[in-house]
Amino acid sequence: MQNNEDKFKKVVAHAKEYGFVFQSSEIYDGLAAVYDYAQNGVELKNNIKEYWWKSMVQMHENIVGIDTAIFMHPTTWKASGHVDAFSDPMIDNKDSKKRYRADVLVEDYIAKIEGKIAKEVKKAEKRFGDAFNEAEFLNTNPRVLANKEKIEDINKRLYGALGSNDLEAAKQLIIDLGIACPVSGSKNWSDVRQFNLMFSTQMGSTADGANEIYLRPETAQGIFVNYLNVQKTGRMKIPFGIAQIGKAFRNEIVARQFIFRMREFEQMEMQFFVRPGDEMKWYEYWKETRMQWHDSLGMSEENYRFHDHEKLAHYANAATDIEFKFPFGFKELEGIHSRTNFDLSAHEEHSNKKLRYFDPELNESYVPYVVETSIGVDRMFLALLSHSYNEEKLEDGSTRVVLNLPAKLAPYKVAILPLTKKDGLPEKAREILAELKMDYMCYYEEKDAIGKRYRRQDAIGTPFCITVDHQSLEDNTVTIRDRDTMKQERISIVDINAVIALKIKG
Ligand code: GAP
Repeated sequence: MQNNEDKFKKVVAHAKEYGFVFQSSEIYDGLAAVYDYAQNGVELKNNIKEYWWKSMVQMHENIVGIDTAIFMHPTTWKASGHVDAFSDPMIDNKDSKKRYRADVLVEDYIAKIEGKIAKEVKKAEKRFGDAFNEAEFLNTNPRVLANKEKIEDINKRLYGALGSNDLEAAKQLIIDLGIACPVSGSKNWSDVRQFNLMFSTQMGSTADGANEIYLRPETAQGIFVNYLNVQKTGRMKIPFGIAQIGKAFRNEIVARQFIFRMREFEQMEMQFFVRPGDEMKWYEYWKETRMQWHDSLGMSEENYRFHDHEKLAHYANAATDIEFKFPFGFKELEGIHSRTNFDLSAHEEHSNKKLRYFDPELNESYVPYVVETSIGVDRMFLALLSHSYNEEKLEDGSTRVVLNLPAKLAPYKVAILPLTKKDGLPEKAREILAELKMDYMCYYEEKDAIGKRYRRQDAIGTPFCITVDHQSLEDNTVTIRDRDTMKQERISIVDINAVIALKIKG
């Protein structure tokens, strides 16, 4: 297809044109990095959440779900470390007045070097043909080795600076690398400063002595503060998990790339409580289990990779990202963190309440360790949308735009289309609709030529179209068209439900 930047622009335009995502408050020129989900988008988003919930809660007898409030006692965020440490290192370009995350500027620079390595590989592949051995080339080619060493040095300096909060060293790195502002092209940089990402507001009236409270920046803390309530009322035995889906808010300074980085977004998080010392075993388990979940959606293994953190968050002793190949490159889709007993211990300390677990097998009490899986609903949505957006050249020379979404997540599962608006075909089609709509999101449409209607369904990712024609009136059969192959088969009306169920299960 076209280059990735073009593709991304098309995906964004498609999301609006076909009712998936709208800019928030668009009539007032929008609100930066805030988006609304439209009629088709909300169906896809709900299906993503349901699929995650089923796989995490319904499929695990030792995981339960909760739904906690967005507002929490302000001490929560003191205990969790977010008041003191939830910030990004930012740098301003004095000429363009644009603000950037210092680490992102450096990472973008590294991505360019990685691009050079990829180009070398492509060139060598062409030169050596079948005899080309990529692994050997990457380990021996002098230009590749020099670039790899460069990346290693930069990473060492970057994570060294950020790890020790040495913001001067972070600025020096940007200067030494000669990084210029992408907007002004100038290298006239301010100092690097830390900005806290939490939104705050007031609860209660000022006269009563209003309290500053925060909009939660992650859903996880709602799970931690309820850990004992759930453990006791659910009679949960370690190891066990608590899952939650909900909104989170971050005052992202550099909000860009559509719904990839938003100020209001949604997370699907699960905290898994384990015995101290068992956390690495469970960390590996959840890495594998979560990658299998992604695999089950059929978006090709090569579009995913793990990226282990070099700079660990204040609460973690191991962390990795599952990165997805978005049109703008590999970026974090999901985080898996071994959070130690940091959060529960901190809440014990700040609340003066014991958050222990009595382990009958060990006959001792301890603060459990936690392994967390955390995925952004919106990022998953973007991964699905950008991966499934395809422009296909057809045999007759025309092009069709199709969303090859996994059938189980598609907004509509089936469209019911009478071939014409007369001869009793709409009535027959509506009978079928009445039968199916209890089980599936169905789209009914009789306007325009059938080919045009198929295209509209392709563009919103509907996996099956049922067409009711004159033969349907004679022998109670219809055609079912597959979105991806565009092939049609004739089936009995009584079999439609079972055929669709089987195809969705696939
Ligand atoms: N409780 C751990 C936690 O919040 P995180 O890596 O900061 O970890 C988890 O966030 C996931 O939430 C990310 O992998 C990403 O998918 C999503 N996410 C984070 N910030 C986001 C933002 N500003 N916009 C959209 N999604 C975001």
